[in-house]
Amino acid sequence: MEEKRIQPWWKNAVVYQIYPKSFQDSNGDGIGDIQGIISRLDYLADLGIDAVWISPMYCSPQDDNGYDISDYQDIDPMFGTLSDMEELIAEAEKRNIRIIMDLVLNHTSDEHRWFQEAKKGKDNPYHDYYVWRDGVEGELPNDMKAAFGGPAWEWVPELDQYYFHQFSVKQPDLNWENPKVRREIYDMILWWMEKGVGGFRLDVIDQIAKEPDKKITNNGPRLHEFLREMSRETFQKGDLITVGEAWGANTENAKLYSNPDGSEFSMVFQFEHMVMDQQQGKEKWDLAPLPFVKLKQCLAKWQKALYGTGWNSLFLDNHDLPRIVSRWGDDGKYRKESAKMLATMLHGMQGTPYIYQGEELGMTNVRFDDISHYEDIETLNLYRERVGKGYRPEDVMRSIYAKSRDNARTPMQWNAEKNAGFTKGTPWIEVNPNYTEINAEEERRDPESVYSYYRRLTRLRKEYPVFVDGRFDLLMEEDEQIFAYTRTTMENEMLVCVNFTGKPAACPLLREWKDAQVLIHNYDGNATEEMKPYEAVILLRAR
Ligand code: GLC
Ligand code: CA
Repeated sequence: MEEKRIQPWWKNAVVYQIYPKSFQDSNGDGIGDIQGIISRLDYLADLGIDAVWISPMYCSPQDDNGYDISDYQDIDPMFGTLSDMEELIAEAEKRNIRIIMDLVLNHTSDEHRWFQEAKKGKDNPYHDYYVWRDGVEGELPNDMKAAFGGPAWEWVPELDQYYFHQFSVKQPDLNWENPKVRREIYDMILWWMEKGVGGFRLDVIDQIAKEPDKKITNNGPRLHEFLREMSRETFQKGDLITVGEAWGANTENAKLYSNPDGSEFSMVFQFEHMVMDQQQGKEKWDLAPLPFVKLKQCLAKWQKALYGTGWNSLFLDNHDLPRIVSRWGDDGKYRKESAKMLATMLHGMQGTPYIYQGEELGMTNVRFDDISHYEDIETLNLYRERVGKGYRPEDVMRSIYAKSRDNARTPMQWNAEKNAGFTKGTPWIEVNPNYTEINAEEERRDPESVYSYYRRLTRLRKEYPVFVDGRFDLLMEEDEQIFAYTRTTMENEMLVCVNFTGKPAACPLLREWKDAQVLIHNYDGNATEEMKPYEAVILLRAR
């Protein structure tokens, strides 16, 4: 028996991410909604998850699919009402599932009341809620770019001023230097906590302390001061899971974000492993093969650095990333094997795992044959920008097939009926045509499916404390095919060993472990030192 320790509940948890627009439509308008989510709670309970992070459902003009909020304290009619939200929280609670809200605090929509007021005049009390610079039309304060293309400054003729936006023009940046802004935000968070939400995911949180005059976007000097204040004023008054999205996170600042003293968040999403398959110093669209040995080093570095000093989040997919089975696995011949392999590699590590909707089915990227089928603002802007610069459209489409955010945003594949059971109407974005083979109904019946495998993984984490506590050690570091590591506690030793490739791979390690208990394995029979394509196994033995 392993010793029992008192841990925050989220160290034991598995989180599921819902992209609400694409999860389940309940009223035939082609857009997923809250009642749709409620109707699928039993599915989520069966999968064995503890919390659901839902991308934003607040009032929003949907310029960036809800990441442009016009009212933080109301639900967009497209998704339902505040009372639907209350019903969701209560229904989830019955199934021991907590609801994690997505907080977008770096910016609001330009249709938010604060911004509407701010634009009325320099002496308006809301003016200083945003980031302004005086100027003349056509002469930008500096050459900073917005994440979705174009300059980061937008001219407002009525004021003779520019406002700063790190994302689209319709997403003006909030001014965190202003204590009134911070107070409004904290009160809003407390209001949601009152409603019984179980936690928050904090959108691009490392960008709130920007200093545009110094061209600082993320990791601004006052960032951790603001985060500690927010945490003290809000999160620490409850028993929440909090996770910051921080593209600029490194292992040093991650120890601040996820300090075990609870002074900031529970954990952060870091992206170092997610930007390796692109050309160094370029954009995500500039594709490069995955440097496998470096990937192992990177993940091992994070595991080592935060052991006992912080906490990792574990993820390979989300609504901004392509489908992992298409990206690092094989979405053809070995779709099932490679989807299970990637899950094994990830869920064996220390941290809180996140499953993005459809990942548990091994859902794949989509290839719409024409740009007109795409919906994502980032994808559409990229296409326009690059074709304008003279890139060949087929090359731009190749990048889009590999990296577009719409890969993750096609509707959830529930069954083999029309529109994959997502809607009875016309879906807001087309369904991936492979839903007839890849869907939840089919996979729930099949004990060998990707779904059934994820279901077993979530249970293993609950059964064996070594998943939560074990120290991580990377093995076979230089091997070009095998990803192997151990997790060790006082009593037990667990080996996670996967073949990351579609070719057989020699793994002498497995000979040493041949008498160990098999916790999970994605092929029939024993795992031998000759590993099959994408073979994955987790073994356990006493020390
Ligand atoms: C985050 C979100 C992304 C959004 C951006 C701006 O990266 O995950 O979807 O577009 O922030 O809010
Ligand atoms: Ca709907």
